[in-house]
Amino acid sequence: MSVYERLRQTLPTQSARWLVTGCAGFIGSHLLESLLKLEQTVVGLDNFATGCARNLDEVRDAVTPAQWLKFVFIEGDIRQPGDCRAACQKIDCVLHQAALGSVPRSLADPQTTNAANVDGFLNMLVASRDAGVKRFVYAASSSTYGDHPVLPKIEENIGRPLSPYAVTKLVNELYADVFGRCYGLATIGLRYFNVFGPRQDPEGAYAAVIPCWMRAMLLGGEASINGDGETSRDFCFVANVVQANLLAATTENPEAVNQIYNVALNERHSLNTLFGMLRDALLVHRPDFRVGEPAYRDFRAGDVCHSQADITKAARLLGYAPTHRLADGIREAMPWYLARFSPAA
Ligand SMILES: NC(=O)c1ccc[n+]([C@@H]2O[C@H](COP(=O)([O-])OP(=O)(O)OC[C@H]3O[C@@H](n4cnc5c(N)ncnc54)[C@H](O)[C@@H]3O)[C@@H](O)[C@H]2O)c1
Repeated sequence: MSVYERLRQTLPTQSARWLVTGCAGFIGSHLLESLLKLEQTVVGLDNFATGCARNLDEVRDAVTPAQWLKFVFIEGDIRQPGDCRAACQKIDCVLHQAALGSVPRSLADPQTTNAANVDGFLNMLVASRDAGVKRFVYAASSSTYGDHPVLPKIEENIGRPLSPYAVTKLVNELYADVFGRCYGLATIGLRYFNVFGPRQDPEGAYAAVIPCWMRAMLLGGEASINGDGETSRDFCFVANVVQANLLAATTENPEAVNQIYNVALNERHSLNTLFGMLRDALLVHRPDFRVGEPAYRDFRAGDVCHSQADITKAARLLGYAPTHRLADGIREAMPWYLARFSPAA
């Protein structure tokens, strides 16, 4: 039995109080859903900057009424120290996801990204320290590898950040490390690599590639690729990210704490391959559908060409063992894309 399977068996018998910041967003809503299904009590904090009530409604519909009653939502902003303090009261474990994602958003408006991702992060660290939380797990990012050329990426070898967003995520790691050493706060940073799955926002200029393409394939419109499509990424299904968070939050291995971990698969798929996989998975459900070819555009500033995670460290210290490879994740997410992007939805 894997460490995660064992954890899923024991957690329902040991209810704790969790705070999920960014709970109305993509990853936060999956953490919320999993924790409620594991009979945990969850406080959620979100200001709906990029998250939405619809995600919370989907979680409500996925859990039992009794589980939903164990969720307390605070509409608030991590840029406000008071909101962070209120949310951290009596919390055992924080899963900090709230931030403004997207490299292009940070290039267009570095100050707003910095306010949420650096000021907000620091507010959350201070509030967590003062509330005496046992563990502070936070969303770091593969963007921290910046211009470091070597693949696969190993946690200790980072390059220079390539965007304001990447700077903010690097600063998060530096602050978390200092709070560990100066105040004894037990933190764990999880460097996510291109996460995808149901509830990832398909709308707007800063939408991620998979929901964007699925929307274009199902509702019409252009699916575009920045560059020649040979750019590659370690696409990680959201269930693997949930696993990494729960393992990080509960590990009792002292060596595992105050560390950073890659969270992905140690696989690399080009955008061209990904496009073909999504189209094939869609055609399983809609064999008579006609999906056009993608449109190729200029390479985007601030993006790295290739990315792939070495996940040895997370496997060794946390027992992380991804349950979903790329094709598994696409298959599992497809019904959600079909429902979300049906013309009537
Ligand atoms: N999705 C990915 O591929 C990926 C990759 C690397 C890192 N990350 C990180 O993972 C975390 C979650 O990302 P996501 O993809 O779920 O994004 P998301 O935009 O769906 O979720 C972020 C949530 O944070 C909330 N939020 C933003 N600013 C806030 C503020 N000031 N106060 C309170 N709430 C605020 C948003 O409303 C949203 O609900 C982020 O920290 C992101 O940087 C994501």
